[in-house]
Amino acid sequence: MQSATRLPDSALDEMTARKANPMNKLPPLPSKLAMVPFVSVDNMMRIVNTIGARKMMAEMAQYIEADFRKWEEFDKTPRVAAHSKEGVIELMPTSDGEMYGFKYVNGHPANMARGFQTVTAFGVLARVDNGYPIMLSEMTVLTALRTAATSALAARYLAPKGSRTMAMIGNGAQCEFQALAFQEIVGIDTVRLYDIDPKATQKAVRNLAESGLSVVSCSSSEEAVTGAQIVTTCTADKQYATILTDNMVGPGIHINAIGGDCPGKTELHKDILLRSNIFVEYPPQTRIEGEIQQLNPDHPVTELWQVITGATQGRISVDQITLFDSVGFATEDFSALRYVYDQLERTGHFVELDMIADPDDPRDLFGMLQRAKG
Ligand SMILES: NC(=O)c1ccc[n+]([C@@H]2O[C@H](COP(=O)([O-])OP(=O)(O)OC[C@H]3O[C@@H](n4cnc5c(N)ncnc54)[C@H](O)[C@@H]3O)[C@@H](O)[C@H]2O)c1
Repeated sequence: MQSATRLPDSALDEMTARKANPMNKLPPLPSKLAMVPFVSVDNMMRIVNTIGARKMMAEMAQYIEADFRKWEEFDKTPRVAAHSKEGVIELMPTSDGEMYGFKYVNGHPANMARGFQTVTAFGVLARVDNGYPIMLSEMTVLTALRTAATSALAARYLAPKGSRTMAMIGNGAQCEFQALAFQEIVGIDTVRLYDIDPKATQKAVRNLAESGLSVVSCSSSEEAVTGAQIVTTCTADKQYATILTDNMVGPGIHINAIGGDCPGKTELHKDILLRSNIFVEYPPQTRIEGEIQQLNPDHPVTELWQVITGATQGRISVDQITLFDSVGFATEDFSALRYVYDQLERTGHFVELDMIADPDDPRDLFGMLQRAKG
């Protein structure tokens, strides 16, 4: 697989050549160094439709897994969150020392009723050695892909072997991505859908009609979890909600809880947490935002990267309840951006943006402005 760090060396050569001859006249058009590949929503959809959503999530899961394996090399910080009564806007930065990435993402549960998306996002990938961005990308679609890829990756390590049926509670924007990633990566063949809004379930049934999954519409969460080995909760509500109560979770279940991802926004009854082995991405962030905000700050949790590297065990018995308390972490977005960057040459689905001011003499920024007057 091509490394995301290789492409822009020619740009650096050009920078060196310009430095050697600072008397060069600026061309009227932006220079090569000014240009940054940009993946619009339209181009992201072309990339997904060229590769195929399922294949793309499976390939992306490999990037996410590879980055979890080198967890200790990453700069890590809980995301920076600006809360309001309507929702949250967050910045999610990280770096592995060679590349730097960040995502801007919002979460506004009341948006859907106002005709907006609950979650929208965009992000940047940059070189650490010169600080230049190498890609700007939409990340609303990409977040759904990377979240589903991460959930399914975690389930491959944690769910009961041979899981075939997943309950999917909350059938909004993330729903079909989750179902398809679990089909491709975990091998489920049945999804049991429930949403408080039947229109959301009808939409998901329609979108999954050609998937090869057996899709069952349910009229309650209780009905949805019946016979499921995996339960995904993916609802959006800015409160301590109780999507699953203790009596709904039998032994041996894997819970993939992705909707509780903000202070004061959870999905599971506390008693379920007390019966589960809990797996998280990055404890300092999950203790603020995840289901475990309901527990004591020293309640034991296992970090997913330790399971992936084999440092610790995932599921150890058939009766165990495993819970992936997912809030979404910056390294997953970094991996997703890295993956998309590696598809640019292969698919050609991007445009170049004139994003970096590039005067022929790097110190003559003002002169560049004056010369632009013509
Ligand atoms: N962990 C992560 O990495 C991650 C990534 C993306 C989104 N999320 C979170 O996942 C959640 C879902 O995101 P989305 O983009 O699909 O949102 P969405 O608004 O498109 O869909 C949410 C759905 O949940 C349903 N719902 C609300 N309360 C419910 C209840 N009590 N029972 C059943 N259904 C209920 C709504 O009717 C809606 O259809 C959000 O809270 C979002 O913040 C987490």
